[in-house]
Amino acid sequence: MQIDGAVAAVFGGASGLGEATARRLAAGGAKVLVADLNSERAAAVAGEIDGAYVACDVADADSVEDAVAAAAEFGDLRIAVDCAGIGTPTKLVRKGKPTALEDFAKVIAVNLLGTINVLRCAAAEMARTEPVADGDRGVCVTTASIAAYEGQVGQVAYAASKAGVVGLTLPVARELAAQAIRVVAIAPGLFETPMLAGLPAPARESLIGTTLHPQRLGDPAEYAALVEHIVVNTMINGETIRLDGALRMGPS
Ligand SMILES: NC(=O)c1ccc[n+]([C@@H]2O[C@H](COP(=O)([O-])OP(=O)(O)OC[C@H]3O[C@@H](n4cnc5c(N)ncnc54)[C@H](O)[C@@H]3O)[C@@H](O)[C@H]2O)c1
Repeated sequence: MQIDGAVAAVFGGASGLGEATARRLAAGGAKVLVADLNSERAAAVAGEIDGAYVACDVADADSVEDAVAAAAEFGDLRIAVDCAGIGTPTKLVRKGKPTALEDFAKVIAVNLLGTINVLRCAAAEMARTEPVADGDRGVCVTTASIAAYEGQVGQVAYAASKAGVVGLTLPVARELAAQAIRVVAIAPGLFETPMLAGLPAPARESLIGTTLHPQRLGDPAEYAALVEHIVVNTMINGETIRLDGALRMGPS
């Protein structure tokens, strides 16, 4: 799939990994719609990359349908990237009491249902287009996490939501193959983004120390570079790719 001239929608594109991706795709010649809960920041990013923006909650059905429709106004939607996510800590029990079920539900709603929401809307839109030269109709990139495999204490809902993103990747790729639409998940390790800024310094240092090589935080530009590669390399499909410097997280 060629990036130059393609229409792309980046959910969660106002910050961190999504922002870097929006910038990279735009630099490659794509018309990028930045869809994010934070419309002010989305507008700022879109303004800098000659893109467009829309306020969007990935956990809301109509909101994502509207965002995809807005992207399709620029032409055939070829690239959908979902980087919208939240990392709210969730332990099962807090101060001797069961943690409120809503705390888990919120994380699952944004990270897992939000991913499904983006995929269902993007797939329906891409399926309406004609395939391009290499036979692809479109490609969807989702964001899991290495917590899908090595979730830590306090990541009950987060790890479950990301494991869900890993788990749905193959069945979605199998379903969408008939329409020549690919789906690929990226499972990042630790990346220098505003979300990570919420992690206490000792936990952050310990995780950096556990990373095999290179022993540093990932640069969001490195995530964006992988998205770019996934888009152009048509053989990548139905897979979750770890991007983590071989970090294997410990229990806490
Ligand atoms: N930064 C890391 O180390 C890391 C590691 C593994 C996975 N991830 C995942 O990568 C994704 C991006 O994380 P980031 O580090 O760039 O975080 P970030 O907080 O910098 O960016 C997330 C963006 O998503 C938006 N967002 C949140 N909820 C939303 C919703 N309901 N609808 C639409 N937009 C919403 C936010 O406004 C923000 O712009 C997340 O799914 C996160 O779980 C990040």
